[in-house]
Amino acid sequence: MHILLLGKNGQLGWELQRALSPLGRVTALDRHSTEHCGDLSRLDELAATVRTLCPDVIVNAAAHTAVDRAESEPELARTLNALAPGVLAREAAQLGATLVHYSTDYVFDGSGEAPWQEGDATGPLSVYGRTKLEGEQLVQQSGARHLIFRTSWVYAARGGNFAKTMLRLAAERERLTVIDDQFGAPTGADLLADLSAHAIRAVQQRPELSGLYHAVAAGQTTWHDYARYVIDHARRAGVPLKTPADGIAPVPTSAFPTPARRPGNSRLSTAKLQAAFELVLPDWQQGVARMLDEILPATQAPKG
Ligand SMILES: NC(=O)c1ccc[n+]([C@@H]2O[C@H](COP(=O)([O-])OP(=O)(O)OC[C@H]3O[C@@H](n4cnc5c(N)ncnc54)[C@H](OP(=O)(O)O)[C@@H]3O)[C@@H](O)[C@H]2O)c1
Repeated sequence: MHILLLGKNGQLGWELQRALSPLGRVTALDRHSTEHCGDLSRLDELAATVRTLCPDVIVNAAAHTAVDRAESEPELARTLNALAPGVLAREAAQLGATLVHYSTDYVFDGSGEAPWQEGDATGPLSVYGRTKLEGEQLVQQSGARHLIFRTSWVYAARGGNFAKTMLRLAAERERLTVIDDQFGAPTGADLLADLSAHAIRAVQQRPELSGLYHAVAAGQTTWHDYARYVIDHARRAGVPLKTPADGIAPVPTSAFPTPARRPGNSRLSTAKLQAAFELVLPDWQQGVARMLDEILPATQAPKG
């Protein structure tokens, strides 16, 4: 199997380089690649890359993920998040290849408290959400065999993430304020990459599995409880912190105005994914604890 991976150096792309390698030959590109174009803003050259390489599977981990900046550069966001996946899907359809693509909880309006199902009505609140939704639709309309995974609150040990920001702030300040009215599941890029590899193998054998799936870790939390979990874990590991256990104040989203509106309810039901691919998704705490043990100094990782 020959796999073309786009966005190889993002949180997810990096983990996909590892997880896809046992499936076959992987050609991994980013926007700076020179031999083949991996820049999602250059649509014609992107199409030429697919035609030249003739992969069996295209995995697109690249996107315009700067949610607030997308509000002021909607055309670029649309090119990367909608038109480019549309081009990849069209080329995949012509080749008979499978396209794997990633979308987001931000396609929903965040109302209610129930976990969103794949077939629920969408209602994006932001340019990012609207462009990601259009990308899903172009992939679905292309006729290509595809897997679209909607995920949320992605983190990885590599690069910056919410947990690292909380740890830095907790080392500097006696009091933190963190939003407590957005609900979702922090999802590790490693988990997403591993389940993608599993699903690719399955869909190559059973094309009827082609479709849209919600893919997040199990359970739910708020940014506030997520921050408390991170800081408690670090404290137990012996990391010196200024913020006491009760020093993290819950605040509403309105306390931190941002250019892009975020959904309050980002809970995603993963029943369809688990049934189709016979997968069990671990609780979000499991992956976050593992990531923390990777980023905290070795002497400070809690034992057992
Ligand atoms: N992060 C989240 O919380 C989250 C939540 C829900 C869904 N998702 C989706 O999950 C997928 C993976 O996200 P991630 O967390 O891995 O994001 P990420 O770490 O921001 O990675 C995105 C990658 O896209 C690349 N990229 C940007 N512009 C490009 C261009 N013109 N051509 C080619 N590559 C370009 C970036 O490269 P540079 O580093 O060079 O800019 C980066 O490597 C995306 O589809 C995203 O929409 C993410």
